[in-house]
Amino acid sequence: MIGKVIVAIAFVAIAAAQYNTQTSPNNPYSTSSKIVCYYDTKGNFRSGDAKFEEVYLTEPLQFCTHLIYGFAGINPTTYKAIPLSEQFDVIQNHYRDITNLKRRYPGLKVLLSIGGQRDDPEHSEKYLKLLEAVDTRLAFIDSAETLAASYGFDGIDLAWQFPPNKPKKIHSTLSGFWSKIKHTFVSPSEIDPKHAEHMEQFTALVRDLKSRFAHKGLLLSMSVLPNVNSTIFHDVPKLAPNLDFVNLWAFDYYTPQRNPKEADYTSPLHELIDRKFDENANALVQHWIHKGCPNNKIILGIPTLPEHGK
Ligand SMILES: *[C@@H]1O[C@H](CO)[C@@H](O)[C@H](O)[C@H]1NC(C)=O
Repeated sequence: MIGKVIVAIAFVAIAAAQYNTQTSPNNPYSTSSKIVCYYDTKGNFRSGDAKFEEVYLTEPLQFCTHLIYGFAGINPTTYKAIPLSEQFDVIQNHYRDITNLKRRYPGLKVLLSIGGQRDDPEHSEKYLKLLEAVDTRLAFIDSAETLAASYGFDGIDLAWQFPPNKPKKIHSTLSGFWSKIKHTFVSPSEIDPKHAEHMEQFTALVRDLKSRFAHKGLLLSMSVLPNVNSTIFHDVPKLAPNLDFVNLWAFDYYTPQRNPKEADYTSPLHELIDRKFDENANALVQHWIHKGCPNNKIILGIPTLPEHGK
């Protein structure tokens, strides 16, 4: 239970920084460094200590150059970008409330994120289907632009729901005291038989979105979700030039949902014993750098705990 609560709280906001020597925490806009903060609105629907509301953004926002609103989704029939909660996002005006924060924090950019495993994660096939045809990609691009522009967002973040890796299997031995960890090799085709096509089509989507957004002055970023394997789905050298920045979510590899019998580090920095070599922040960042993404576009995503009870 405790593990669950901690993960729930830890997930509400992540902040990431790319430091340079002139970074001054009190004036985040004075340098070209980015500090990107994620606001997961799901926190509004929790109760007790895990509840996270707009008011808790006030303190972190003095350090953020970018705020990302999570999350919007995709309509499974039209493939248009849509609000995930019409009631909360639109009727109660939460989209506007958040983009209006730009008045209080001049220089702040606010992006709307799509996916993030908040959009019906049991039925994420639409994220692959959308990629497969030019007209569904176009429907998405048109609607994403409209959605961003209608509510004052400065751009879109693609937290695309690619199929995740399979969770680690844990088998107890007869003694019951020790768990034997089984590393089964899962081939990319078992995760997604059409992974190569989907990688190429996602690259095309990002390219087309960028050329549309560049004309309209909108920003485009993407997020690599936990347990989505960049080696399989992300063509880094072709994606990087078309992205303003990329958010690498280096946390939640092992969650109570995926690995109910095992507590774990929320955000391992380096390789751990009995783990895949690439389930940590360092491996993820190194992968993107080695594949040719400029360092200044890489945002390392870590979980943070908001200070409650004001
Ligand atoms: C990601 O895919 C590569 C290539 O198939 C594989 O070597 C690696 O172990 C995978 N990572 C994870 C965390 O499954």
